[in-house]
Amino acid sequence: MTPRIIAVLIAGLLAGASAAAQTQSNKVWISVGDAAYAELQKVAPQALSRESRATLAAPQALVAGQERLHLVEVDEQQMLALSAAVHRNLRRCGGFMFHTSEAEGIAAVSAPKQRSALLAPARPSYVIDQQSVVNPMLAQMQASNIGQTIIDMSSYANRYYTTNNGVNASNWLKQRWTTMAAGRSDIAVTQYTHSGWPQKSVILTITGTDNPNEVVVLGGHLDSINLSGTSETTRAPGADDDASGIASMTEVLRVMVASGYKPRRTIKMIGYSAEEVGLRGSQDIAQNHKTNNVNVVGVMQLDMTNYKGSVNDIYLYTDYTDNAQNTFVANLITTYLPTLKIGYDKCGYACSDHASWTSAGYWSSMPFEAAMGEDDPYIHTANDTYANSGNQADHALKFARMALAYAVELGSDGPGVTPPAERTETVTGSLTKGQTRAYGPYKVAANGSFKAALSGSGDTDLYVRKAGTPTTTSYDCKSDGPTTTENCTVSYTANGNAYVLLNGYAASSYTLTVTYLPQ
Ligand code: BES
Ligand code: ZN
Repeated sequence: MTPRIIAVLIAGLLAGASAAAQTQSNKVWISVGDAAYAELQKVAPQALSRESRATLAAPQALVAGQERLHLVEVDEQQMLALSAAVHRNLRRCGGFMFHTSEAEGIAAVSAPKQRSALLAPARPSYVIDQQSVVNPMLAQMQASNIGQTIIDMSSYANRYYTTNNGVNASNWLKQRWTTMAAGRSDIAVTQYTHSGWPQKSVILTITGTDNPNEVVVLGGHLDSINLSGTSETTRAPGADDDASGIASMTEVLRVMVASGYKPRRTIKMIGYSAEEVGLRGSQDIAQNHKTNNVNVVGVMQLDMTNYKGSVNDIYLYTDYTDNAQNTFVANLITTYLPTLKIGYDKCGYACSDHASWTSAGYWSSMPFEAAMGEDDPYIHTANDTYANSGNQADHALKFARMALAYAVELGSDGPGVTPPAERTETVTGSLTKGQTRAYGPYKVAANGSFKAALSGSGDTDLYVRKAGTPTTTSYDCKSDGPTTTENCTVSYTANGNAYVLLNGYAASSYTLTVTYLPQ
C-alpha cells in the first residue's frame, strides 16, 4: 500500500468521524481485511469504536490469501467515508461487508457452515448433456439487446439504494421482466421488500415442471453508487457496475421465453438491491432462503460483464465461491463457448453478492469481466457509462451465453433418474381339484423383484420359479396355505424370467396379481 493511499484513507475516516460528531448516526458492524485494518488501528484508533473480541478466522480462501478479517463497530457515517476511501484507493487491499449486529457479522465472516446433512441436498449432477437445448438458444442471443438494457438502466440519474431514482429503477426492472414473461403462467415477477431502505430487490421465478423445490439462482445487483456523493441527482449510471450483469441476465430470460424453454428445476433471476453498501439486499435474500430451507442447488453472480480489461475472456473468482461448481462453469465454457479463454483470480474479500450465498452455505460462482485490478476503471463514478464500454456489449454477451448454459444445464435436471415404473398384471380363473395352470414368462429387470399375490375362494397353491415353469417340487418360492390367499416374492440381481404355477388343492376361483419391474 502506498503512503498516498494511506493518507487518503485516513482523510476519509477523519472526515467521517467529524461528520459523525455533527449528525446523529447509527452504529453498524463492518468486517475489513488486514491491510485496511492495520492502517486504521495505527493512525485513527478512535475511529474504531469497538472491535469484536473474536478476530475472526476468515473463510478458507481468504486464509490462503494470507488475509484475516476484523469485525469492528463503527459509526454509519464513518462507514460511508471508509467505503469511499477504500473503494477509491484500496481496491486491491480489501472492501468491507456490512452487518446489522455483532452476531450477524460473526456468522457472515466465519467459515461457511455446512448445512446439516439432513437438510443439505445432494450435489447436483454437473454432467453436461443439454447441447440440443442450449445450442439453438445460444445462437439467438444478441449483444444489441444487452446494450439496450444497459442504456435503459443507466438512464436513471443513479440507482442508489435510498434515492427515488433507485426505487424507480427497481420498479422499472420489475415491469420490464413482467412484460417479457407475459403469457407464461409458470413465470412470476415479484419485488422483495427490505426493512431499512426503500429500494426493493426484484425476483423472477420460473417454476420447475418436475422438481420445483430445487432452485437455480442467477443474480446481479440493480443498485449503483457514486462514491463522491449519494444525493438524489448525483450521476451514478453504473453501466458496467452492474447494469451489465442485469442486462446479461435479461437476455437469458428473453431467449428462454422466445424458445418456450421450461426448466425441470425452478430458476430464479434476482436483481439485488443495496449491494454497493455492503451486500445488504443479497444477505437478506440468501439468509431468507436458508431460514426456509430452500434447496438452492447453485448460484451464479453476474457483477460487471462488459469491460474487457484483460487477456482472458471470463475470470472465475476463486474466493467466496465453490470449487466444484467453478469447475462445472469452466467445463460449460469449454463445451459451449470453446473460443473463449478462461482466467482465474480473487477479490480478496467479499466483493459481491455471491459471498452472501456462500455465507448461507450455498454453492456459488462469480465469473468476472477481468483480472482483479484490470477491470473497468470508471466504476463507482459518473463515468461508468455505456460509452466508456465502447457503446457495445460484446463482452457481456459471452457472460449471457455462459449463464444460459449454466441455468439450462442445472435447470434441466430433475429429481434424479426415475426408475422405470413397476408393472402390475391381473388374471382371474378357476380350477378343479388337482388341476394346474401355468403363467409366464414375465421378463424382470435387474435389481427388481417379482411379486405374485393370489386371492379368491377354495384352496389354490402358488409356486414361482426363475428357470422355467415350476412344479410342485421344483420352485424358488412356494405359498401353499389352506386357502386361496397366497403370496410369493423373488428378487433379481440380473435381468431374468419369472414363471408361475397354480395348483388346485381343492376346487377354487382365484385372482392372480403379479407386480414386477419390467426389463
Ligand atoms: N462490482 C463490485 C465488485 C468488484 C469491483 C469486483 C471491482 C471486482 C473488481 C461491487 O459492486 C462492489 O463495489 N463491491 C464493493 C464491496 C461491497 C461489499 C460494498 C467493493 O468491491 O468494494
Ligand atoms: Zn458491482
